[in-house]
Amino acid sequence: MRYRRVPDETVRRMPLYLRGVRILSEKGQGSICSKSLADCLGISAWQIRKDFSYFGDFGKPGVGYDVAMLESRINKILNLGCGHNVVLVGAGNLGSAILSFNGFRQYGFNIIAAFDRDAKKIGKKKGPVVIEDVSRIARMEKKGVDLGIIAVPVSAAQEIADALTAIGVKGILNFAPVRISVPKKVKIVSIDIAVELARLPYYMVSSQSQGVVE
Ligand code: NAI
Repeated sequence: MRYRRVPDETVRRMPLYLRGVRILSEKGQGSICSKSLADCLGISAWQIRKDFSYFGDFGKPGVGYDVAMLESRINKILNLGCGHNVVLVGAGNLGSAILSFNGFRQYGFNIIAAFDRDAKKIGKKKGPVVIEDVSRIARMEKKGVDLGIIAVPVSAAQEIADALTAIGVKGILNFAPVRISVPKKVKIVSIDIAVELARLPYYMVSSQSQGVVE
């Protein structure tokens, strides 16, 4: 489903709302208001209502949102409902940590293969998969993979992005601190932890923000 132009910041917050809804749902709440979601997440109720407004009607003002409905709507908006097969390339320090992390499943992400070029790593089991030689990545072409994770050094990132594009991924999560080019149909989200850290000291000396920084 297509919505009117939605700000990226809103899209960035939607998974947070999903997490908040699940926390409140686990506490046994059948219906929630934007205030309780706001208190749970540290985001203003106004902001939540505004973000939801981009996607149409979510509930009756003053009555609150049905938790099951909200979870299902956000899942649908984020295109998470149907599950996604993921491959990871680069099973070093970061890649290994990602492979060992169980938290992706709650969003429907299923890491089905991981690749590296280091003979010492190939054949070893990491999390749910056995590391394979990256020269075999083309075998994933007909396996219904739609997401790739890049956890290789900068020097190899573009080559790996090309290989992931060739096997048909539609989205790439890139951890290498470099700009990579892909065809328009492939979406990239890059995460640079050092850059995220580098903006934190600014807020430590600034009075602009109160506690939560997005
Ligand atoms: P690492 O050196 O531990 O792991 C990189 C892995 O990529 C190695 O196993 C290596 O054999 C593999 N590799 C290299 N070229 C390859 C190729 N052409 N095909 C397949 N595999 C290949 O490095 P680390 O620390 O895991 O970092 C990976 C990337 O993530 C780097 O770009 C780094 O800048 C970035 N990063 C790392 C963070 C960390 O906390 N370790 C944090 C943020 C970003």
